Amino acid sequence: MNAAGHSDVSDSLKVVVGVAGGIAAYKAAHVVRRFKELGHDVRVVPTESALNFVGAATFEALSGHPVSTTVFDAVDEVQHVRIGQEADLIVVVPATADFMARAAQGRADDLLSATLLVATCPVVLAPAMHTEMWHHPATRDNVATLRRRGTIVLDPAHGRLTGKDTGPGRLPEPEQVVDLALAVAANPAHFRRDLEGARVLITAGGTQEAIDPVRFIGNHSSGRQGFALAEMAAQRGAEVTVIAGITDALPNPLGAEVVNVVSARDMAAAVERHAGQADICIFAAAVADFRPSQVADSKMKKGKSDDALSRIDLVENPDILATTVKRRASGELAAGTTLVGFAAETGDADSSALELARQKIVRKGCDLLMCNDVSGGRTFGSTDNVGWILSKGGEETVVPLGSKFAVAGAILDAVVKARG
Ligand code: CTP
Repeated sequence: MNAAGHSDVSDSLKVVVGVAGGIAAYKAAHVVRRFKELGHDVRVVPTESALNFVGAATFEALSGHPVSTTVFDAVDEVQHVRIGQEADLIVVVPATADFMARAAQGRADDLLSATLLVATCPVVLAPAMHTEMWHHPATRDNVATLRRRGTIVLDPAHGRLTGKDTGPGRLPEPEQVVDLALAVAANPAHFRRDLEGARVLITAGGTQEAIDPVRFIGNHSSGRQGFALAEMAAQRGAEVTVIAGITDALPNPLGAEVVNVVSARDMAAAVERHAGQADICIFAAAVADFRPSQVADSKMKKGKSDDALSRIDLVENPDILATTVKRRASGELAAGTTLVGFAAETGDADSSALELARQKIVRKGCDLLMCNDVSGGRTFGSTDNVGWILSKGGEETVVPLGSKFAVAGAILDAVVKARG
């Protein structure tokens, strides 16, 4: 495993970072840097217009390799063929509307487009453009063509664009691009578009249960597993809504609509509103089982005669997964809705983590249960994870140690299989 915990890509990869001509080209420098920090060999291939935004010297210094834009440089090395043939992964950041149009047409009129035509490795495009361009039917068609051919076209982030506009079209954060691209390189099959048209609801993160205006009961959930599931489901073609509790200041998952909540009851209410429109519900959140029975209006003080701070009475929170299972059983939700639970287990004196998970899938009544073995403090906030996927039919799949994306891929594969 390397320093950042990307255990599913243990070897140094030959990564080509293509850069097309858009203002977000400056973020390509961060992408190059991140790949280098993770120990990969990076070759930057900008388009001619990308160099209007960032100079070749920057990319040469960061990558440690010369940079050229045309097939007529180093002709003796036939580099328009060699770079593509040798690459383990190609990431184009930013992929502009014009670049995607050229890629969709199979043009080979500069070094980057020629490299794409030669490559047989995974290709990831990170689009950035104005919202109107992203929504234009020409771009939609080009994206659909590229995806149909197996190119991974990431969804752009939603947010502030150059100038005053806001909307989808922003380049995802460099770290998001690198993490997703490495997940694609590790297992391209996890990104096939087998959830096209499916509506997926995912709970993620932890909940906070207020004690008074400044204190709460919370937990260590980072939200990373739920967000990785959301990004991968979106990339597999699903329409994704995430009910996000408290997370580790993560950027919103690409391609997903996010509903932010704080407490278990907020999360329960949001799930109740959205579950009816979902085909698949995945409950990855770490929901507080209890909350203080009363929330003080003003900050509670220690040393008061009632000593209220030293004894906080708790009441049980709604079990969101169990409630959703009941709603399906009563016909409020479609019978075909697939419900996936999570369990974090350490095992105890009587039972192993796996045995506890077997009991939990029966008790909760969900179709699939992802059980994380969290003995020894693993999982919370870490980038790695281990466990089993149990099905209500009794199937048990070991999920080997891997990144959150590797686990997300195993879960979504199990969901697709369970839905037939
Ligand atoms: N869950 C939920 N609402 C709750 C508690 C849990 O939706 N109030 C969901 C979690 O998101 C997870 C699954 O239920 O998918 C199992 O959570 P876990 O905390 O392991 O289950 P509990 O029933 O609380 O079991 P335990 O006694 O082991 O804590």
